[in-house]
Amino acid sequence: MVYTHDVKKAAEILSGSRFAIALTGAGISADSGIPTFRGRDGLWQGYRPEDLATPEAFRRDPVKVWRWYLWRLELISSAKPNDGHKALAALEKLGVLKCVVTQNVDCLHQLAGSRCVIELHGNIRRARCDNCGYKDDVSRILGDIPPHCPRCNHIMRPDVVWFGELIPDDIWEKTVELFTRSDVVLVVGTSSTVMPAAMLPVMSKEKGARIIEVNVESSALTYITDIFIRGRASVVLPAILREVENMIRR
Ligand code: OAD
Repeated sequence: MVYTHDVKKAAEILSGSRFAIALTGAGISADSGIPTFRGRDGLWQGYRPEDLATPEAFRRDPVKVWRWYLWRLELISSAKPNDGHKALAALEKLGVLKCVVTQNVDCLHQLAGSRCVIELHGNIRRARCDNCGYKDDVSRILGDIPPHCPRCNHIMRPDVVWFGELIPDDIWEKTVELFTRSDVVLVVGTSSTVMPAAMLPVMSKEKGARIIEVNVESSALTYITDIFIRGRASVVLPAILREVENMIRR
């Protein structure tokens, strides 16, 4: 394997870490059959974010936005965690990884068994009412499109963070605390082009953390990484896990 040396090095850094965390993006779910956003086959090739993933788009045409989210939800609902998600869950079980902060809305980390998961951009399986704060599974409130809140009858929206919106305060505070505390950040499958997620590893780096990146191509963040492993998350992460397990057994 071309990257054996880097995999070993990454495993060494993770095994010796005090507080390692992971930041994941759409790339980790690519091998579960969920398209990424950017790149040749990315979702934003066929759709414009401003038509579908902004509060203005929702105000303009809630039916169109809901249809797009329901199409993605269908795709996500049939997807299963891949070996990359499972490796991160196993690293947490070993006590090596403390938490996964994800930009994904697909729930695949939780389904793989990760317990500490912070969803920066919300969860596509949930809907929420911005009028009274009611939240529920999309499957439970869906009748008409757009669905209406069973409590106050206001129109409900997907419980995700759109462009131009802020990450909820409680989630952001927890995230900043994790990235400030971490001594190792494992960045997986993100182009690192969307703020504020993209600045999180930079924040850790400035505090002395080491950055390991796994991606099929270099990203906007690769320049700050200590180790960059080019490859699919579903292949590289299990390889790192195996090395960590060997190191722990020794
Ligand atoms: P992107 O689509 O921008 O980037 C996906 C990254 O995954 C790219 O860097 C790819 O090279 C990499 N990649 C693809 N397949 C991979 C694989 N099998 N293994 C490892 N890496 C792989 O997705 P994100 O960075 O997650 O936000 O995008 C961030 C945010 O932009 C999303 O959360 C979403 C989007 O617009 C909102 O909707 C608010």
